[in-house]
Amino acid sequence: MTKRPIDIRECAGDIIRAMRPGILLTTKSGEKVNSMAIGWGTIGIEWEKPIFIAFVRTCRFTHEMLQSNGEFTINVPVGDFPRKAIGFLGSKSGRDMDKIAEAGLTLVEPNIISVPGLKEFPLTLECRVLYQQQQNDHELNEDIKRRFYTMETADHTAFYAEIVDAYVIED
Ligand SMILES: Cc1cc2nc3c(=O)[nH]c(=O)nc-3n(C[C@H](O)[C@H](O)[C@H](O)COP(=O)(O)O)c2cc1C
Repeated sequence: MTKRPIDIRECAGDIIRAMRPGILLTTKSGEKVNSMAIGWGTIGIEWEKPIFIAFVRTCRFTHEMLQSNGEFTINVPVGDFPRKAIGFLGSKSGRDMDKIAEAGLTLVEPNIISVPGLKEFPLTLECRVLYQQQQNDHELNEDIKRRFYTMETADHTAFYAEIVDAYVIED
């Protein structure tokens, strides 16, 4: 298995397009590895560094994992991929099961951080959280509040992470 380095300035558009229908965010705490589907995310520059911002609700198991280890991989499909995995990893919680094993996904050793990538979702960003910010009702646009937070308060945490490595996993 090889890893072909990529320039995120060139593949940012591909990653953003893949967010619909969904990409994956993988975390690791101790020996536990867990992936969840994400559809919201931002790629850009801050502090002169390439940054991925993930928006994770506080109730997710992934949120708990990120508090214990502030590193994650972003896993983006390239070409054919197991589409059902997105729905599965986006509806079940890693609190209750080993979702990666259940989905039949293959872990791939990372280069720099502690969290593996996924062979079946080969475009990989290795990310290290530099800052997190809790979003709240008081400062949120009313239309967004009505559309996304009717049943609960705004409860996404924005995790700003430096992209420390980026590559495509190849056979
Ligand atoms: C296509 C898709 C996109 C999603 N995007 C997000 C997201 O950006 N942020 C979020 O907190 N949850 C998102 N979810 C929901 C989580 O993936 C879902 O709640 C998951 O079961 C959480 O897993 P965990 O408890 O193992 O962390 C999305 C789900 C799907 C199907």
